[in-house]
Amino acid sequence: MCGIVGYVGNRPAQEILLAGLRKLEYRGYDSAGVSLIADGEIESVRAVGNLDNLYAAVEAHAENGGVAVATRPATTGIGHTRWATHGRVNEVNAHPHFDTTDRVHVVVNGIVENYMVLKQRLLDMGAIFTSETDAEVIAHLVAHHLALGSLEEAVRAAYNELEGHFAFVAMTLDEPDVLVGARRECPLIVGRGDGESFLASAVPAFLAHTRRVQVIENGELVVVTPDDVKIMLPDGTVLDRPEETIDWDEETAEEAGYETFMLKEIHEQADAVAETIADRTIREDGVDLAEEASFDEALLEDIDRITIVACGTSYHAGLIGRYVIEKWSRVYTTMDIASEYRYRDPVVGPRDLVIGITQSGETADTLAAMRLAKERGAKVLAITNVVGSQATRDADGVLFTRAGLEIGVAATKTFVCQVAVMYLLALRLAELRGTMKTETLRRILAQFRNVPSLIDEVVAHAEADVEPIAEKFAHSEFFLYIGRNVGVAVALEGALKLKEISYISTDAYAAGEMKHGPIALLDESTPVVAVATDSPVLDKVISNMAEVRARGAKVIAVATHGNEAVREHSDYRLRVPDVDWMLQPLLAVIPLQVLAYAVARKRGLNVDQPRNLAKTVTVE
Ligand code: AGP
Repeated sequence: MCGIVGYVGNRPAQEILLAGLRKLEYRGYDSAGVSLIADGEIESVRAVGNLDNLYAAVEAHAENGGVAVATRPATTGIGHTRWATHGRVNEVNAHPHFDTTDRVHVVVNGIVENYMVLKQRLLDMGAIFTSETDAEVIAHLVAHHLALGSLEEAVRAAYNELEGHFAFVAMTLDEPDVLVGARRECPLIVGRGDGESFLASAVPAFLAHTRRVQVIENGELVVVTPDDVKIMLPDGTVLDRPEETIDWDEETAEEAGYETFMLKEIHEQADAVAETIADRTIREDGVDLAEEASFDEALLEDIDRITIVACGTSYHAGLIGRYVIEKWSRVYTTMDIASEYRYRDPVVGPRDLVIGITQSGETADTLAAMRLAKERGAKVLAITNVVGSQATRDADGVLFTRAGLEIGVAATKTFVCQVAVMYLLALRLAELRGTMKTETLRRILAQFRNVPSLIDEVVAHAEADVEPIAEKFAHSEFFLYIGRNVGVAVALEGALKLKEISYISTDAYAAGEMKHGPIALLDESTPVVAVATDSPVLDKVISNMAEVRARGAKVIAVATHGNEAVREHSDYRLRVPDVDWMLQPLLAVIPLQVLAYAVARKRGLNVDQPRNLAKTVTVE
């Protein structure tokens, strides 16, 4: 997903923008650029490929006397990392884009749906387009409307003509100390400093400078100067928006000695889960959610059904939620892929609770599914990691995971925290509905409280256990993952992790389906990962493992430490400690994250930014 950063203040903008773009690298991009205003000139520098190329291009530009290093360094500018949608990956399609007279520069995230119509109109008026992008139309449109008198008015007029999902920031030579931003769906957030302001698509872009933020809501515009921020509606109505303080610190956005963000985040899982469940599991015989400002327990009352909607890894967390909510609280629960739910005219109404799980809180399909459910009268609960994200504003209530900032594209610590929140919710529902014996509730809660203290041990064991497996199978063409019950979700998540960071083809199946087709895939070269932790369905899983081995394929089992039957029927083991089998997925997924990581590293891949993937998918 593209990244935006803008700065207006009293310090040299160039370094701030480039450093801000570095912090957005994790979102994925294929080209980048900056525009700066100084000494009555406005200039942009763009480059294809990674940010090192942009740094080099800026330096070369400076040597040629460009504004980027004018005698009085520029203190206003905008920067962008582009993820190509309309138009090839090349320098002219990289942002910032500018108008024909080179007075207005813009950086844009998202898609302008009616750009063809607007472009034709602007061409007819004499505009000269230099790129193949939909985004360039915004620069020309804003420039056209500058005749209204100010950048603010021009952006408002342009905004009202645009269709699509986007966020953009514009600046003009005519008003060198002003940035104007606009948001429709795609995120945009203001950072407030002393005598300086920031506008960005995500907080890490300015976290080194300030933690004071103002969120721009969907359908709002913002005018930013060094000392002032004015948030308004497209008709010009000015809004009062209090500042919030983000509690992430700069360190969260650093690798802190780990070779990658993903590895760092795998190691942060114990703390993240501890943080997520801490105050919520203090009571011996119950879970406390009622005190949370963002969540009203009335949401859990008068419901007949729960539907969980999510995408990708969050979908897998929801799948575990489905099993535990049904088992513990006996509420009928289904799990839906958000992009399917929103387009299939679902049966949903006032006696439904719809839970949207999204770590970013900005995933377009999940947000749309939540909105659809709300329109049809359902209560909507969001489970997210990001304070102030769109999901938090669309939902009737929010339960936060407290994983901290996750930078690696592959979700790890946010996943285990989502699973933890699923447990909290299921236990609370069980308590409210009286569907679990008190001693069972106490036993499970006691084990749940202890889970964070087991995670570091699981990571350490996994790092040792995966070595020979990664060595042997790093160049395999295909991995099959199998599991039963909650183990299916673990298998799906393990397969997704390997697929997305190692580019190895994977499939994941409910093990009972093996004989209905997938078994045909197996031969001596196939590694099969079986989620075979202790559970009432373990015997069944072991039978499937035996079937696999009978075809000569190799079994890598995620197994409860010391289980001899699993040892007998497998070739490699990934050990996890014994906990209640419904809590097991939270631990069982960790060796699979570590396995995926080890395989990808053996293949020499960049796990933090896998090809073709972005951390946040804000456009459908
Ligand atoms: C998995 O590693 C991915 N990051 C991806 O599947 C992700 O879970 C999905 O895009 C949904 O994101 P969200 O949780 O931010 O909605």
